[in-house]
Amino acid sequence: MERYTYGMIGLGVMGRNLLYNIADNGFSIAGFDLDEEKVKSLHEGATSEMKVQGTASLEDFVSVLETPRKIILMVPAGKPVDAVLENIKPLLSEGDIVIDAGNSYFEDTNRRIADLASKNLHFMGMGVSGGEKGARTGPSIMPGGDQEAFHLLKPMLEAIAAKVDNEACTAYMGKGSAGNYVKMVHNGIEYAIMQLISEAYDLLKRGANLNNNQLYEVFREWNNGEMNSFLIEITRDIFQEKDALTDQYLVDMILDKAGAKGTGKWTSEQAMEIGVSIPTIDIAVTSRILSAYKEERVQASQLYTEKEITAPENTELFIQEVGDALYLATLISYAQGLALLVKASEEYGFQIPLKDVVKIWRGGCIIRSVLLEKFYTAYSRNQELSNILLDQDIAILVKSKIKSLRKTAGFAAANGISSLGIQTALGYFDAYTTESLPVNLIQAQRDYFGAHTYQRTDREGVFHTSWKSENN
Ligand code: 6PG
Repeated sequence: MERYTYGMIGLGVMGRNLLYNIADNGFSIAGFDLDEEKVKSLHEGATSEMKVQGTASLEDFVSVLETPRKIILMVPAGKPVDAVLENIKPLLSEGDIVIDAGNSYFEDTNRRIADLASKNLHFMGMGVSGGEKGARTGPSIMPGGDQEAFHLLKPMLEAIAAKVDNEACTAYMGKGSAGNYVKMVHNGIEYAIMQLISEAYDLLKRGANLNNNQLYEVFREWNNGEMNSFLIEITRDIFQEKDALTDQYLVDMILDKAGAKGTGKWTSEQAMEIGVSIPTIDIAVTSRILSAYKEERVQASQLYTEKEITAPENTELFIQEVGDALYLATLISYAQGLALLVKASEEYGFQIPLKDVVKIWRGGCIIRSVLLEKFYTAYSRNQELSNILLDQDIAILVKSKIKSLRKTAGFAAANGISSLGIQTALGYFDAYTTESLPVNLIQAQRDYFGAHTYQRTDREGVFHTSWKSENN
């Protein structure tokens, strides 16, 4: 019987494309899906050089795989992953490896690692980013967990991942469920950057009256320079897309209600849980929630809209400032996400190599950008950076853009153009770079009404005061 080195369960667009990518790189692979049609059509997309096999049952699938079996799951996160595991576990042998390549919650991965380990099976969580196209041509791959299992997969992962400067965009992300955690934070940063881009779009469109052709030109120019990134690039192209149903641009026909599958929310919840401040990511999550109140927003806009927008005097200068503001707010969003990874690494013992994280995010993934090259340089100098904003070279860059961020935030506020992400990035920066915050007053209030105690600036210890209230 013909044997296959890898197996893929879940032949939806992502699973199928990843399977073809693996096969393209000379590895044999069998596929299985509950949907028979997907199994049957597997050969249609394969070239004659690929060693690919669709299997009709889970039993057949397992039996055609070389041992130790290396099975990749590309099924929706949550219950479907558990259902597959329940069905496949009895069919596996000691030493087999199951790799979950979906956007699974890291705690679920921890539970599954323990469950499979009790049967001497390896379970790994592996983040994959890049969408359908990336899966087929080269994603960014974030594996974590069992080192032994990782080393067996490494040559294949390096072959199928995106390349930057001839280096594969994949690396070991740390122990346990670190692969899923890093991918979750990747998505949180993705939410923040998308929010910021949408605000820059709004400022240029409503603030400076730019039409879609002009917006295309602005984003084209941005993408040709230091802001070069996947999200800026696709935004550029979106402004050119015509609608198939009307003679309008498609972007103008899309309803302003943003969807979400939950990874952004998990990132925010996690940051709250372990005490890391990531307000630009939080605001991006909540902005999508707010966007869903379409009917109420229409009502409120009639009730409250008070004034016309005053267009900027110098449009060219305004565009440049909005670009710089977007650049810096994006940098600050990465800083927040990376700071979360630093803390999570300590908290959960992941041992996440930050330098490798930014290195493999430089290509293949949704948040890839040339800015990551600067972070890579910073972490190469100092792996222990608790926040990327503390790097000397990053500080020079930040200082060159901060005025534009302030001016853009000011313009948005003065003209009533909502810019929650931009304002929050600036607010975070100002708080993070302030030596003395006014929370001494909060501590005083807490001690006043609840005897919660406080620390002092001039001596060690914990203090409580009997505050002189007017009522005493
Ligand atoms: C990626 C994407 C991918 C997916 C998001 C979308 O890295 O390839 O992040 O994982 O497109 O889950 O998330 P929302 O539907 O929540 O926006």
